[in-house]
Amino acid sequence: MKKQTNFSPFPTLPLPPSLNNGGNQPGFSIRSATIDDAPAIARVNVDTWRTAYRNIIPAAFLANLSYEARANNWREIFLDAKNTGVFACVAENESGKIIGFAAGCPERTGKYDYRGELSAIYILEAYQRQGIGRKLVREVATKLAESNLNSMLLWVLEDNSACKFYEALGGEIVGDRETVRAGILLKELAYGWRELSGVLSFEL
Ligand SMILES: CC(C)(COP(=O)(O)OP(=O)(O)OC[C@H]1O[C@@H](n2cnc3c(N)ncnc32)[C@H](O)[C@@H]1OP(=O)(O)O)[C@@H](O)C(=O)NCCC(=O)NCCS
Repeated sequence: MKKQTNFSPFPTLPLPPSLNNGGNQPGFSIRSATIDDAPAIARVNVDTWRTAYRNIIPAAFLANLSYEARANNWREIFLDAKNTGVFACVAENESGKIIGFAAGCPERTGKYDYRGELSAIYILEAYQRQGIGRKLVREVATKLAESNLNSMLLWVLEDNSACKFYEALGGEIVGDRETVRAGILLKELAYGWRELSGVLSFEL
């Protein structure tokens, strides 16, 4: 496995969102998440699973997902963030309602030559294809780069149309694995970005 060479972040790039009003367009804004956001993140998480995975994961499993259990998972994730390096950001609509979120962390398997990971990204169906996903990925990449994690990996179910999103953002398939979800054996693909400069310079 090759060792990743670090480089100085943002030498010639536009200001990161944290320095330019978040790159926010009218109507939507992105901010860092806190543990208090756990219930709203859980709601988006569950609702988006139910729509995104309806043709992949059995309906009964999706129907049984619990907002409360998911909120507890997210609280634990925030409480353990100092150890794991996990962070999250949320997208809010003009009413301040959380309609999407993304999370990042150092790459978790240690088996890939990528230093950062986009560990989750979910946007309510009604708000998809409006550029929010691109903004959230840029925000996660910005935070990874601020921690000197200058490359990024993620895992996505092979049958998820989100693969097209990652390809549109310049990701390349760099691995695959089998995973069991809801008792079903599924294939996941790893998409990788060798460096983050392309993602960080997205026009928002
Ligand atoms: C995947 C997801 C995060 C993308 O976010 P989004 O806000 O919908 O995407 P954007 O509007 O930023 O899309 C940027 C570009 O990606 C491409 N793209 C996004 N979704 C796509 C899709 N379903 N099919 C084909 N291309 C897609 C397009 O080129 C799009 O640009 P365009 O709309 O101008 O054509 C979002 O749709 C989502 O939450 N999906 C359900 C949950 C999910 O699958 N999460 C990923 C788990 S690994």
